[in-house]
Amino acid sequence: MTNRLYVTTPIYYVNDKPHIGHAYCTILADALARYTRLNGGETYFLTGTDEHGQKVQQAADKRGVTPQQHVDELFSAFKDLWPTLECEPDRFIRTTEPAHVNVVQRALWQLYDQGLIEDRTFEGWYCVPDERFWTEKEIVEGKCPDCGRPVTRLQERNWFFLMSRFQERLIAAVQTGEMAIVPANRANEVLGFLREPLQDLCISRPKARLSWGIELPFDRDFVAYVWFDALLNYVTALAPDLPAPTADEHELTPHLLGHPPFQKWWPHVTHCLGKDILTTHAVYWPTMLMALGLPVPRRLVTTGWWLMDDAKMSKSIGNVVNPLELRDKYGADVMRYFFLREMAVGQDANFSEEAVVRRNNADLANDLGNLLQRVIGMCTRSFDGKIPEATGAPSHVLADALKYAEQLQLASATDDFEPVAVTSGQARLNRTLADTMALTQKLNGVLTADAPFKRVLTDREAAATTIFHVLQGIVVAARLLAPVIPAASAEMLRRMRAEDGILHPGAQLLEGAPLFPKHEWKPAMTTIDETLTQPGASQATSGRGLQDFRTGEFRTEKEPSDLVDIDTFSRSQLRVGIVLTAEPVPKSKKLLRLTIDLSEEQPRQILSGIAETVAPADLIGKQVLVIANLPPRLMMGMESRGMLLVAEDAEGKRVPLHPARLVPNGVLVK
Ligand code: MSP
Repeated sequence: MTNRLYVTTPIYYVNDKPHIGHAYCTILADALARYTRLNGGETYFLTGTDEHGQKVQQAADKRGVTPQQHVDELFSAFKDLWPTLECEPDRFIRTTEPAHVNVVQRALWQLYDQGLIEDRTFEGWYCVPDERFWTEKEIVEGKCPDCGRPVTRLQERNWFFLMSRFQERLIAAVQTGEMAIVPANRANEVLGFLREPLQDLCISRPKARLSWGIELPFDRDFVAYVWFDALLNYVTALAPDLPAPTADEHELTPHLLGHPPFQKWWPHVTHCLGKDILTTHAVYWPTMLMALGLPVPRRLVTTGWWLMDDAKMSKSIGNVVNPLELRDKYGADVMRYFFLREMAVGQDANFSEEAVVRRNNADLANDLGNLLQRVIGMCTRSFDGKIPEATGAPSHVLADALKYAEQLQLASATDDFEPVAVTSGQARLNRTLADTMALTQKLNGVLTADAPFKRVLTDREAAATTIFHVLQGIVVAARLLAPVIPAASAEMLRRMRAEDGILHPGAQLLEGAPLFPKHEWKPAMTTIDETLTQPGASQATSGRGLQDFRTGEFRTEKEPSDLVDIDTFSRSQLRVGIVLTAEPVPKSKKLLRLTIDLSEEQPRQILSGIAETVAPADLIGKQVLVIANLPPRLMMGMESRGMLLVAEDAEGKRVPLHPARLVPNGVLVK
């Protein structure tokens, strides 16, 4: 069966300007859709704007315009942004559209007929300026907990959705995975919330205090609560253009169930949402659907927040980053790559421009863009710019990279491919990206190890074989990166004349400007000299501390008080790895940037202060010793994941250590 994905973003409140939190969510949904298409699936992608409610009414009042005028002017700030970030929604919905109003009114009327909405009068503490009720427990010394102004006791009649009736069914839907909540810890959070009795939900607002909303068809003194209205957007987008309900005909469910787009897409829905709106999506929404006799959503992908200096980015704090500025400075591809590579879906991440620059320079410019430039340059110099035929046997390093590329490609075509796996999937796009980028690192390693630019002088066939296969590896990487960096990926394939995904020997490669220009960033974190004398590093690198690996005993020339027992020693994971790539770090005399294969999921980037004693080319293909369980640290704005073991020579310069003969990569040094 064809894999299908109906993916949605939250619909954004129009009173806020778009910020990177919104941009992230839309980019995530867009990438999920593109990964699904890459996997051979069909997709439908919905986003839009949430245009009713008190905040919009207040904002319009403040500007002296009607709410309708206000939303008509503002919704396009969202609608027009998405194509510029290479997001391609199939439908942009506005909750003020007549089609949506009809759906909401039908839902309300149907639930009313079913006896699942009833009116009740309740009493509470009301804050007039904030226009909201508080419970006895919430108020603070007779004042509003939000604004500190006095509250008044008020009675109000309202309509309630009998949500409490669906508590058991909802628990079952979460527990059985009928409604999958990703990541799993969010499902536990929902189940925790459901341990307390579920309340009924007030779904109306009296027009006397809020008129900007969808009128309740059975009681014209009220409008619908904005969340009841907003959540239904996800089915409006699949609904036929339903006529407005009448006294005789006002059901929703039969229309939906009988409508082909609903039948086609609803079973495959994935809602992307921020963790702050989990309850509305994981509790209100599925119970509304159950009450209407419709299936619960298939999957909720809950994202964390982008933080600035550990505080949530928000307009009220004034720390929002404008996605347009970011795009203008770095381009949409870099922005998309940064968001999806840097944030593990579900967890918070700190936003900083420095991190954007680092990702751009290290991953996109160095590992990817430079790889293509290098190989096209070699072809131009040695093969008239034409793709050579591969008639020789691949070298050991090349064969390893090709095997890896094949595995990646196979994985991307299965149901378990992270970005498309629904039930077990965690939507770990950051991992998918890391795995794909590991291929580019391996290919760089191949170029350096096989050195076809030198080899071509003595063995033209071997050089041609390397070049052909490296190009083929780049085609694989470009295809797998297309969901995240669509423009750059298309350009890479164009330059390789492989728009059809196939490399054609004899085709003339196209040269071009660097795909990802590097950006300057002054590292605010550490200077090189500070990093090279990191605490704890001195022992391991001084040549005095780690002497006898064979016996497992740790000897030291220091005083007995410095003795370390074997357990302490073995907590440092010393491992053997092979150097795949090595290159100088710009503006640093001492540092080399290495990628080292420790037989892990992907090679590691390690920075080491050995540039004065060893030439990069001499290190490639050699095995080295690495301390593998140090926390990552930033050096010259780049992340180093581990430390190379070195000994100091007579002048105090660092010399790397190598095993006496080849051993399997990743083995522990004991
Ligand atoms: N209108 C409602 C959603 C209704 S869906 C039926 C809403 N809108 S919102 O504009 O306030 O927020 C939309 C999304 O942006 C939420 O998922 C929210 O989590 C996300 N973000 C807002 N700030 C954010 C960050 N700083 N970081 C990441 N996403 C955050 O809620």
